[in-house]
Order: sequence, then C-alpha cells, then structure tokens
Amino acid sequence: MEKTFLMVKPDGVQRELIGEILTRFEKKGFQLVGAKLMTISNELAEEHYGEHKERPFFGSLVDFITSGPVFAMVWQGENVISTARQMMGSTNPKDAAPATIRGDYGLTVGKNIIHGSDSPESAEREISLFFKEGELVEYSKLI
Ligand code: CMP
Repeated sequence: MEKTFLMVKPDGVQRELIGEILTRFEKKGFQLVGAKLMTISNELAEEHYGEHKERPFFGSLVDFITSGPVFAMVWQGENVISTARQMMGSTNPKDAAPATIRGDYGLTVGKNIIHGSDSPESAEREISLFFKEGELVEYSKLI
C-alpha cells in the first residue's frame, strides 16, 4: 500500500488546524498509520530539507520548521502521494486553489501550513527520517 509523509508545520499547529487537516485526509478515505507531535531538531530539519541547502531561504526555512511543535504523520492509500499533494494545493498559497488546505488557510510561501512528500523516493526517505518501523501500525490484521 502506498504511503506518504505529511507534516502540519508550526504555523498550522499554532493555528489549531491539526484536527481540520486530519479530518480532510480521513474523510477522503486514507488511513493514518503513524503520527507524532514533536519539535524538530536543527539536525533533522537540515537533513529533511537537504535538497534546498543552496537556496537563499534555507536558513529561514530551518529556523521556521524548528520554531515550534509540528505534527508528523504517515498516511496510506491508493495514490496517496499525488492525491495528498493535490489536497494540499500549490506550495505558494497565493497560487493554491480554493478548497485545498493552502488555498483555504495559507497566505505566504514560508508559512504554508503543511508539508507533503513529492515522490515515492521522498516519501520513503522522509518516513524513515521521522518514524521507526515499529511506530507505524498495520490494519491488515484487523478482523
Ligand atoms: P515544503 O513543501 O515544506 O518544502 C520546502 C519549503 O520551502 C516549502 O514548503 C516552502 O514552505 C519553503 N519555501 C519555498 N520557497 C520559499 C521562499 N521563496 N521563501 C521561503 N520559503 C520558501
């Protein structure tokens, strides 16, 4: 079953959007297989956003993502990686369509509420950065 890594960023947690975001993905039909409220260390932030290391905004991105608690999640379901990206909306909330998370709740590209893996490779990398194998649940054994 395809899995993706999603994270409510510090602005989304502070604005009490965790419940709203969980509801959107649950109602869509995806299954939550892992979740934790945590504060990201500088080291983890630099690793997670490593591909942006040379960008001028890298420093402010790391400062922001470590500035307060985040809600890290793993979701599973058919085409969850691309569908979750559609549900999140464009990276820059000013370009995000209404009825997407960023379209409805975001204003600026720095504080864009939520992060989601952009490919199967990123999903695998990001899930293993934030979660140990034993921290993810299985639903297949439910009777
Ligand atoms: P995210 O999906 O978490 O992945 C990288 C993040 O970099 C992105 O969301 C934005 O929040 C952030 N980002 C992208 N471009 C800029 C920018 N020009 N200034 C500040 N942050 C940016």
